[in-house]
This record gives sequence, C-alpha cells and structure tokens, in this order.
Amino acid sequence: MNKNENQIYVIFGASGDLTKRKLIPAIFNLFSLNQLPEKFAIIGASRTEFSDDDFRKNMIDAIKEFGELKDESKITDFVKHVFYATTETEENSTLDNLKEKLKKIRTEFSIGGNTIFYLSTPPKLYSIIPKLLAEQGLNDESDGWKRLIVEKPFGYDLDSALKLNSDLNENWREDQIYRIDHYLGKETVQNLLVTRFSNGIFEPLWNRNFIHHIEITSAEDIGVEKRGGYYDSSGALRDMIQNHLLQIVGLIAMEPPASLEAESIRSEIKKIFQALRPIEENEVSKFAVRGQYISSTIKNEKIKGYREEDGVPEESKTETFAAIKFYIDNWRWGGIPFYVRTGKRLPTRVTEAVIHFKPTPHYLFSQQKVCDSCNQLIIRIQPDEGILLKFGMKIPGNGFNVQNVNMDFHYSDLSHQRIQPAYERLIFDSMIGDKTLFSQASEVMAAWKFLDPILKSWKTNSDIPVYGYPAGTWGPEQTDDLIEEKEMTWRYPCKNLSNDGNYCEL
Ligand code: BG6
Repeated sequence: MNKNENQIYVIFGASGDLTKRKLIPAIFNLFSLNQLPEKFAIIGASRTEFSDDDFRKNMIDAIKEFGELKDESKITDFVKHVFYATTETEENSTLDNLKEKLKKIRTEFSIGGNTIFYLSTPPKLYSIIPKLLAEQGLNDESDGWKRLIVEKPFGYDLDSALKLNSDLNENWREDQIYRIDHYLGKETVQNLLVTRFSNGIFEPLWNRNFIHHIEITSAEDIGVEKRGGYYDSSGALRDMIQNHLLQIVGLIAMEPPASLEAESIRSEIKKIFQALRPIEENEVSKFAVRGQYISSTIKNEKIKGYREEDGVPEESKTETFAAIKFYIDNWRWGGIPFYVRTGKRLPTRVTEAVIHFKPTPHYLFSQQKVCDSCNQLIIRIQPDEGILLKFGMKIPGNGFNVQNVNMDFHYSDLSHQRIQPAYERLIFDSMIGDKTLFSQASEVMAAWKFLDPILKSWKTNSDIPVYGYPAGTWGPEQTDDLIEEKEMTWRYPCKNLSNDGNYCEL
C-alpha cells in the first residue's frame, strides 16, 4: 500500500451538505483511527464568510450529528488541523485568498506541497474551479503532487461530460483527476470482486450458459427531501443508474482482471460499458420505463407527491423512478437480459443484485415449477448487508415435494469487524493515490453514450408516459412489462435479507 504522505485537503463547497454529512465525519474517522499522515490540514473553501473558528465550530457540530466516531478529546485535536478560506468561484474571480491560506499553512506547519482539491460544489463550477486553481499555479507539481476530486454528476449527458473532461484536461492530467462514485467505496460493492474471483464454485457458472438473467434494484423510501432543485434537473436515470448502478453492473459482468492494479480493473469495467447493446431512440419504450411518485398516505401520514416538493415545478416530467432492460454483447453475456431499477419513495431502502440461475432442464419433481426462481444468489449491498443463496429442498414427508430454502451470510455476524463508510474508504484512497475505486473518463463517457438515447427520447417524445406511482409502492406496474417471461416478476425485497417470504420488514 502507498504511504499516506503529508498533505493538505481543500474542500470546495465547504458550507454544503455533503461536507458536513459525509466528508468531514469521514476524515475525522481516519484521524481517530490514526490513518492520517503526521502532518495534514483541511481547508474548507466556499463563498460564505467564516473565520477558521466559525468553520471549526460547524464541523464539530457536524461530527457530533452525523459522525460515527465522536470521541470529544479527539474532536478537539482534530479541529486544530481545520481551516477556512472564503472563496469566490465565479468565472472571473481569483483564488488568491486560497493561495495565500495554503502558503501560510504549508509554511507554518511544514506540510509541503502535496494537495488535494475536492469539488463538492454545484456541478456548474466543476469546469471553473480547476481553471481558477491553474491560474494561481495551484496545479503545479514542482513542490508536491496535486489531485482533483470531482463529485458526481460528471456531466449531464455525453456532450456535456466530454466538454467537462476537455475543460479539465486543459490544466490537469487524467492521473490527477479522481471521479468519485461513492458506491465504489461501499464494502459490499467491493465484495462483488471477492465473491466472484475468490470462489471457484461460482466461476464456471458465471455466464450465459447457467445464468438466466440479472436483476439490480436500488430502492429508497425517502423522497427528494431538500434537493428538489438539483433532482429536477437530474432524474433517476442520471442520479443513480448512469453512475452507481452501472458500476455494479460492471463489477458483476466484468472479466477477471489481470491484477488488482487500478488500470487492470478499470479497463475490464470499461470493456463492459463498451459492450452494452445500444438502445435506439425509437425503441426506448421497449427497454425503459419511467415514473414519478404521487401523493399517498403511508402509516397514516400524508406523503407529498413529487410535484408538490420544494423546488420542483408543478408540471415537472422528471422521473423519480427508472427501470431499464439491456444486453451486454460479449461472449460471456450474449443474450442474457440485465434488469436495473431505481426509485425514490419506494416501500423500503434496499440495494441488491440478484443472479437468477437457469432452472433445471427437466422438472422431475411435482411442485418444482413453483420453485422456478429457486436458484438465486442475492448480493445485498444495503441494508442487512450479506449474501443469500436460494435453492430447492425436499419437504419432509411422503413424495418429493420441493420447497425454496435459504443459505445466508450477514455482515452483522462479523460483529468485531467495522464496515468502513464509503466516503472514508475513498478519501483514504485519494490520499494515498490509489485510483482503483475511481471511474476513468472513458468509462463515464461509455455510460453516457449508452444512456443518451433514453434521455433524449424521454425529453423529446411526449408519447412516452411518465407513469404516476403512489408513494410507498414499487413503481409503475408497467415495469413488469420489461420482463421477457410473463410468469416472472421483479423481486420485492424486504429490509431483512433472509426472512423474505415469511416476514417482510419494510
Ligand atoms: C446519491 C444520489 O448519489 O446517492 C442520491 O444523488 C441518493 O439521490 C444517494 O439518495 C443514495 O446513496 P446511498 O449510499 O444512500 O445508497
């Protein structure tokens, strides 16, 4: 593992939600676990006027409210490393204020020049800030490395993503740019690699000969909360599928990498994205369904519809639910359908990938037909993280009746092992210069290229309905029409991984 060298971590968008909910608590965890270098500093940067002390106070509150580790004396030590610089980041502003602050801290604490700039701002600033940094010479590596972390969304469609990339490349090399996708930081997402490539039993089965289809769901029970403004310009396809869920597809479908080097893993994922069978604009209705939640009453509480949320126009056609079906045209997956769905205000919060194996070629036992879906491997990303294998068993008694049973592993059984939050892992990796869990430009472009026809067609073709679904349900019923075989449906997962079918907690 690379050494975590002395460095300064600059966070743009420091007064925003992500900084207080995720970034600062994650860096504090690293501090508490002694994983930060001997000399380090954090500089929050944003337009709001704060002194160092004001900002520190806010960050103490953030750690206490959102953090996992909260040792008071450690918090007091930690904030001694935290500073703030008020910065204007409009097109014609300068970052001289930040440059001064960096210089002062570097000298005072002898930290040296290694610096990370984390862009956690509104996306329109992703092109501007890196240019302003370069104008101040803050991309210059003569005194130490410089890295740029870019939050999602990386672009709005293929054209804007290409433009953003070329803007960045004017002053930053690809190896300096870290495109963050927090799903890649999730322990359970990384475990996809281990499940696949450390278990000989799965290897021979992991292909079109034995797998019937693959289903990936990422459901949320919350609505858009205070993010109506952002969300309305995004929608479910851009917000979740373009990045998080296609990354999961990549890890499930990729060929074994030659090594665990970043380049090796990323290039296998890119090959999957490049093999996604294009969906033409005129066939989008066959392959994609969109929906929007409408108001309903859940547990006696009246839940607002999407169009009634703050920041959302009354006539909005933005999808809060999206489901797509697609194929990967390569030797391993030729002809096997992949189904992916995501949505807000669904019955529960759950993300999982389900590998549906083909049934046996001949039904020998009575009742086996009801057990068509017997052989499923369910990889639960969250919550109740774990793995569940479903298979058919003889029901004790006369005859040969088959029943579906479960074999399960829950991460919670490893009670002595802490599951590292995604941002903590990714921030640490960025500090040590490990790009394995960050997307490359070519992957991002391939993902946009695949989704662009759907986005275009949804935007321009008013004949394609946005189906309303009552908040708290599994999305529009038309989603079932995507599934090829009439007798099959999507899985309706519960919060608890293994008791589904008996007691389903939502
Ligand atoms: C973010 C999306 O990237 O991921 C949000 O912008 C979504 O809309 C969130 O709620 C889900 O992340 P997680 O880790 O809670 O599954």
